[in-house]
Amino acid sequence: MRKSLAVFVLVLGLFLVFGSHSAMTQAPLSGEALVNERCSQCHDLTRVNRAKATKDRAGWERTVDNKISKRDVLLNEVERTAVLEYLIKN
Ligand code: HEC
Repeated sequence: MRKSLAVFVLVLGLFLVFGSHSAMTQAPLSGEALVNERCSQCHDLTRVNRAKATKDRAGWERTVDNKISKRDVLLNEVERTAVLEYLIKN
C-alpha cells in the first residue's frame, strides 16, 4: 500500500515537472523565426525586409492574408498574429 502511494506521488511529480516544462517551451512564438522559415519558401527575405519601410499594419495584414490564401497551411491564427507583430515592429 505504501509503495503504491510512493509510486503515485513519483508519477504525479514527474507529470508536473514535464507538464509545465513543455508548456514553457511552447509559450513564446517567435514572429521572426516564423518569417524566416515560412516567408522564404517562395522568395527570399529581401522582399520582406524592403517592404518593412513602407507597409503599415493594414498593409501587412493584406499581404500576409494574401499569402495565406495562396497556401492555407502557411500560418495558423496564432502564428499569423506573431508574424504581424514582428513585421510591424521591426
Ligand atoms: C506561396 C508562395 C509565397 C509565400 C509562402 C510567400 N510569398 Fe510573398 N510573394 C510571393 C509572390 C509570387 C510574390 C510576387 C508577386 C506578388 O507581389 O504577389 C510575392 C511578393 C511579396 C512581397 C512584395 C509585394 C508586396 O505585396 O508588397 C512581400 C512584401 C512579400 N511577398 C512578403 C511575404 C511574407 C511576409 C510572407 C510570409 C507570411 C510571404 N511573402 C510568403 C509568393 C509567396
